Amino acid sequence: MSSTEVKTLRVVVLISGSGSNLQALIDGVANGDLPIEIAAVISNRPDVLGLTRATNAGIPTAVLDHKGFASREAFDQELMRTIDAYNPGLVVLAGFMRILTAEFTQHYLGRMINIHPSLLPKFQGLHTHQRAIDAGESHHGVTVHFVTAELDGGPAIVQALVPVLASDDASLLAKRVQRQEHVIYPLAVKWFAQGDLKMQDGKAELKGELLPACGYQIEANEP
Ligand code: GAR
Repeated sequence: MSSTEVKTLRVVVLISGSGSNLQALIDGVANGDLPIEIAAVISNRPDVLGLTRATNAGIPTAVLDHKGFASREAFDQELMRTIDAYNPGLVVLAGFMRILTAEFTQHYLGRMINIHPSLLPKFQGLHTHQRAIDAGESHHGVTVHFVTAELDGGPAIVQALVPVLASDDASLLAKRVQRQEHVIYPLAVKWFAQGDLKMQDGKAELKGELLPACGYQIEANEP
């Protein structure tokens, strides 16, 4: 490798389900937009669509079924061993529906990111789309953030704002938010891969500038 070449970032993606965000990353690699190698996809559930997407793209997969472990700690320990065997520079949680132990989050601090379907700090946890509608929000959206010990609480990197329409129900709104997920997750991964994005002293920095608490905000470009 010449000194001017950018080293390809090794990424491990954790999933629990359909893996549409994983697919956005796979597509980004395929079209030459993302300077990463997806070294492995790990799921805590067997037989999910995300595993098929990975296999179709020629990416190694592993299943670590949480039901086979006596405790959250034992599962997270084995998960760490499994991830670290692939020697990633970044761990990407893409619909990985597990609460993580503090030891796990500490181990990957500054090199693990998550996507959450709300404008954090609003609507942490589940059923975010319905809760945004019920609260009468004018805008909902999605956040990519660094993972810390606090659930859905780490420093925000990027948010996409999606208007809530009078005609929206939770499923319509979720679809429009997901479209934005597939825009901002590859963007955040690209920033990290290029060395532009860092977590420093508990805060997210982009190109040497401290990001605001909401992260870098974009407005959904909706028809
Ligand atoms: C995504 O909508 C993601 O924002 C959400 O799970 C979905 C996974 O979809 N994540 C969370 O709710 C995390 N708290 P996908 O499997 O099709 O990428």
